[in-house]
Amino acid sequence: MEIRGRDFLRTSDFSTEELELILKRASQMKLALKKSQPSQQCLAGKSIAMLFQKPSTRTRLSFDVGISQLGGHPIYLNWGDLQLGRGETIHDTGKIFSCYVDGVVARVYRHADLEALAASASIPVINALSDEFHPCQALSDCFTIIEKKGGLDGLKIAFVGDGGCNVSKSLTEAALQLGGSVVIASPKRYSPREELISELRRLAKGGATLQITEDPVEAVRDADVIYTDVWVSMGTESDAENRLRELRPYQVNKDLLAVSAPDSIVMHCLPAHRGEEITQDVIDGPRSVVWEQAENRLHVQKGIMSLIL
Ligand code: CP
Ligand code: NVA
Repeated sequence: MEIRGRDFLRTSDFSTEELELILKRASQMKLALKKSQPSQQCLAGKSIAMLFQKPSTRTRLSFDVGISQLGGHPIYLNWGDLQLGRGETIHDTGKIFSCYVDGVVARVYRHADLEALAASASIPVINALSDEFHPCQALSDCFTIIEKKGGLDGLKIAFVGDGGCNVSKSLTEAALQLGGSVVIASPKRYSPREELISELRRLAKGGATLQITEDPVEAVRDADVIYTDVWVSMGTESDAENRLRELRPYQVNKDLLAVSAPDSIVMHCLPAHRGEEITQDVIDGPRSVVWEQAENRLHVQKGIMSLIL
């Protein structure tokens, strides 16, 4: 299995075994950092472009720090500052990037733009979030779940809220590939598209299943993991009023948490809107693992980059 040189646009670009290899590498890197051992300098002499079309706190910082720790040179580029903002094509931009840098980490509005960038660039492209997928988040979240629960086999993961959002779809994809079962609870119009649901089901490892429901209580009943994300993702602001109203019954609060497994954990990719998709007592409470999730982005992305780049 050769991971080097490949794009990472969604977790299913890699097999279960390849994802497990990345997670193993991430775990070694986390341990080394905790023991203050010197980082592997596997990106020494390499420059990595970080092309962002949307705001970011965690992804930007963790990639920048991760690239530096591995000995590489991160170059942050705001989409609007490039000639892209004046109409240069993505195709030409991908070719130009390939002349100078060794990889691109890109956050874009349209997943199709990421695919176009990957198609034109001869260097690996890593998805740092698109409207469709957020694979680095999802793989890091699986890493956190494995740390907390020992593995994904036999677990019930409930995603509650905007089931069709990038984080929900990538979490589902990664969890199914790694053997965890997922239930998505959202109003019908926020559910992932039918074709994607079928595709995700085909990726499931072992006995893992994917269920879709409109009932948050049914989804969370006896769940080991409860996951939510903002109701208004970047790029959906014009629909904010409807979203805030229609997703209201899907708030993760203490009443909903009460029906989950007694040792369940609560996850959120952040940024969070306390009082909307999740209440303050829950996100800042004892079941929440959101800070560990955020930290693990660094370790898992280092694992991804060390194998791809
Ligand atoms: N979770 C996440 O991707 O956060 P940022 O938008 O801050 O990068
Ligand atoms: N679904 C959110 C995730 C942010 C990390 C968004 O796309 O805005």
